Amino acid sequence: MTPQRLKTLQEDGDAIVVLDQTRLPSEAVFQRLDSLESVANAIINMQVRGAPLIGATAAYGVAIGLADDATDARLAYVIETLAATRPTAVNLQWALRRMDAEIRQLEVTRSVGLIQPTRCAGANQCFAKPLLCRCCEAWKVASRIAAEDEAANAAIGNHGLKLLLDLQTLARPIQIMTHCNAGRLATVAHGTALAPVYAAHEAGIAVHVWVSETRPRNQGLLTAWELAEAGIPHTLIADNAAGLLMMQGRVDVVLVGADRIAANGDTANKIGTYLKALAAKAHGVRFYVAAPLSTFDFRCENGAEIPIEERAANELHAGGISVANPAFDITPAHLISGFISERGVLAAGDLLQWKT
Ligand code: MRU
Repeated sequence: MTPQRLKTLQEDGDAIVVLDQTRLPSEAVFQRLDSLESVANAIINMQVRGAPLIGATAAYGVAIGLADDATDARLAYVIETLAATRPTAVNLQWALRRMDAEIRQLEVTRSVGLIQPTRCAGANQCFAKPLLCRCCEAWKVASRIAAEDEAANAAIGNHGLKLLLDLQTLARPIQIMTHCNAGRLATVAHGTALAPVYAAHEAGIAVHVWVSETRPRNQGLLTAWELAEAGIPHTLIADNAAGLLMMQGRVDVVLVGADRIAANGDTANKIGTYLKALAAKAHGVRFYVAAPLSTFDFRCENGAEIPIEERAANELHAGGISVANPAFDITPAHLISGFISERGVLAAGDLLQWKT
């Protein structure tokens, strides 16, 4: 599917290498993360961002954090540290719960053939081989989480492509509006909201993407960067231009990602998503949310239960002014035409079918 020119996340021995998203689009710089603290800081500072990528990075953070000490106490500390990095994207908690469940069951001292080397050098190089070490197992689970994200997003691309085909006309390329960056940069590969766009482009279907700037952090520039990399036509707009474009009939569909989807379909995504959904409803434009199942939180009944991250005032202004900076908003389910996951497309009222 998506040509992978610069990978967002790669294993490198007992560390990971990530593409530093705070340096894009001006320069592509990689950063090696080899300690629990460096992984936690990369998530907090948004060098790594986007719900699925945060989840996969945190999973590797667990493996990295267990290198010298894989006891239950250390595992609990590592998970607590990573869980505190960002509150809204549920993929983080999802990945940490899964790491905890799969690693905790491997007892450090009592299992036959299970040892804790002085320092684990990563799943492929650990001298404990062929015996198991708990840290090596953590690397394997993290690798599986990353691979599953890639596969889920590829499937989202195929399901979303069918929706886009329904909108195809001879008159013009399909006009897609997106918000924030829910592309390959926000995931291990392919993206979520942009996965159907990539699939359409690769199938030779003409598309054009309206890229919303996404104040205050300008993730729209990341979207523009990766669409340019893939050769997909796109136009950057100020966030507040979205309503006018929809009123003028210049948008066929809105495709966004999600940071957490409650059981009733209320969806947390980057601040500004709600206003796009309202405008889409007012102008009869279809509005879809694309996300892997790791973003669905059936423990939250509705959007009111989703924690909204409040970020630093200096993201908006250098100082001296009172600032509120909520990083996400909640789009109520009734504004959403459908949800695209690796399992297909469903309306909000049917989402419980995906609760496994
Ligand atoms: O604050 P960010 O940049 O991590 O927020 C990202 C978003 O809101 C994305 O739209 C969402 O995570 C979906 S990413 C596939």
